[in-house]
Amino acid sequence: MLMLLLSFFLLLERCMNSHLLRRNNTTYQEEKRKEMGRGKIEIKRIENSSNRHVTYSKRRNGILKKAKEISVLCDAHVSVIIFATSGKMHEFSSTPLVDILDQYHKLTGRRLWDAKHESRKTMTTSK
Ligand SMILES: *[C@@H]1O[C@H](CO)[C@@H](O)[C@H](O)[C@H]1NC(C)=O
Ligand SMILES: *[C@@H]1O[C@H](CO)[C@@H](O)[C@H](O)[C@H]1NC(C)=O
Ligand SMILES: *[C@@H]1O[C@H](CO)[C@@H](O)[C@H](O)[C@H]1NC(C)=O
Repeated sequence: MLMLLLSFFLLLERCMNSHLLRRNNTTYQEEKRKEMGRGKIEIKRIENSSNRHVTYSKRRNGILKKAKEISVLCDAHVSVIIFATSGKMHEFSSTPLVDILDQYHKLTGRRLWDAKHESRKTMTTSK
């Protein structure tokens, strides 16, 4: 499913690129610039705080929506937890988080809570 989508997009991109390349450089560069303006931004911290907040809430909603979609479309168990710098939390879990963590524990053999506890104990005993 994912592979299909991916190859479709690759094909689409190749079509668009060859289409653009047939035009002259001015047009090509203009189109490229427009494409950048349409959502593609350089991945680095957004300095303007109001822009940063807008981007944060848009992308957060986007991720939560995608998480929900993949869980419905593909029967995947998904948990997403996002903390803002304000400390506010947003989450989505297709299944109760405790069940997802159980699954995580079973697969990795790592028990998050115990691990934290263990490292605390080790720290205090190693003093
Ligand atoms: C490229 O196309 C643009 C608009 O389509 C035109 O103004 C420009 O003169 C063209 N440049 C060349 C080098 O052909
Ligand atoms: C178009 O621009 C690219 C780099 O921006 C350059 O490599 C290429 O030679 C140019 N093509 C033409 C026909 O001017
Ligand atoms: C942040 O961006 C908004 C919208 O682009 C602008 O109106 C505002 O002046 C900017 N603030 C600062 C501190 O640059």
